Amino acid sequence: MRTQVAIVGGGPAGLLLSHLLHRQGIASVVLESRDRRYVEHRQRAGMLEQGTTDVLRGSGVGERLDREGLVHHGLELRFGGTGHRIPLTGLTGRTVTVYAQTEIVKDLVARRLADGGDVRFEARVVEIDPAAAGVTYVQDGRTRTLECDYVAGCDGFHGVSRPAVPGLRTFVRDYPFAWLGVLADVPPSTDELIYANHDRGFALHSLRSSKVSRLYLQVAPDEDLAAWPDARIWSELAARFATGDGWELREGPITDRAITPMRSFVAEPMRHDRLFLAGDAAHIVPPTGAKGLNLAVSDVTMLAAAFTERYASGSEAPLDGYSASCLRRVWRAEHFSYWMTTLLHADPAADDFARRLQRSHLEYVVSSEAAATSFAENYVGLPAAP
Ligand code: FAD
Ligand code: DHB
Repeated sequence: MRTQVAIVGGGPAGLLLSHLLHRQGIASVVLESRDRRYVEHRQRAGMLEQGTTDVLRGSGVGERLDREGLVHHGLELRFGGTGHRIPLTGLTGRTVTVYAQTEIVKDLVARRLADGGDVRFEARVVEIDPAAAGVTYVQDGRTRTLECDYVAGCDGFHGVSRPAVPGLRTFVRDYPFAWLGVLADVPPSTDELIYANHDRGFALHSLRSSKVSRLYLQVAPDEDLAAWPDARIWSELAARFATGDGWELREGPITDRAITPMRSFVAEPMRHDRLFLAGDAAHIVPPTGAKGLNLAVSDVTMLAAAFTERYASGSEAPLDGYSASCLRRVWRAEHFSYWMTTLLHADPAADDFARRLQRSHLEYVVSSEAAATSFAENYVGLPAAP
């Protein structure tokens, strides 16, 4: 079988790329190793930059996002038992939207299938030939080949695309902590997100709807989930969010829990021959700045535009510029995610001097309009790279 673009991975990057290509009349096949239910229910990111919602809306998959997404104009940084609001919209003119990655994936799968798209679940890619542009995959126990003009490697951090690129340069930073993320059937205790710095560790209060809260706790990188029964999770969250003004954290049944390691990682370049890497296949950020999903969307938006130009005019110039254009935005997000992680987490190796520096930095961000604006413009997302 033959197609124009073979897409490895049916996460947000692969599905959105397939959808954007379809709108330009370019054929693609998405090969996804997991089943549809698994992909649609994997709990991950939730905070979308305005640039991301613009892409989803502009490409005709924003209907439910517009109905159910929660538009936010600010967030709270909480430390020393006191909350400080950062007025994101006041400082930047832009908003962010809470709409879960699971819902974006459901919307994209439904739309690809309604448009007659070729999305193959339980189809695991085992080999990619970047020179000949061919992909070998296993489905129903049989090994098959998909020939194509180009391959898009959208198969996440543990996929097979990145190892198919010879001579990659990689940049890595591991952190001495992880996040324990929970989903709970309880109305959020806040209207806006709370990022809390505490000597016991970082905590984040996010939400999914008026009835569902999403909460995260900094834990040790080798933490055992079994050591965290519900009561311990709630009491630890309450301790880290505690204020002097009587604010209370509502508790409810926990419906999902997982531990995510924290890592920064970039692979350069994001292209080899006819193989293009996009999203987590090429780069990882620690989740503190909520950049992972947004970067995946900006990569594939640029890649779709480059393929469109290639098929419309024959010019490969945008494809040739793809890696450098993406990497400018990637490194800005890498720096911001690293910076925000360092600003808010309790580093087990920090001495008193480092802790005083961290507090001074937090006080600067909430008291200087220049510092708050710098924080806010990175958080809401910088404009798309040229
Ligand atoms: P993925 O979503 O990883 O999709 C890749 C797809 O490729 C998967 O469906 C996988 O099954 C498939 N695949 C892999 N190998 C193969 C193969 N050989 N053949 C075929 N298919 C294959 N970001 C935030 O901003 N905030 C968060 O809170 C947050 N939490 C996260 C929690 C976890 C556990 C992880 C892993 C990531 C989290 N992220 C978060 C990051 C964000 O979810 C990712 O940046 C986003 O999912 C990237 O999308 P993607 O499509 O590039 O990769
Ligand atoms: C969410 C996750 C993040 O990493 C973040 O910074 C903000 C929100 C979320 O899952 O809602």
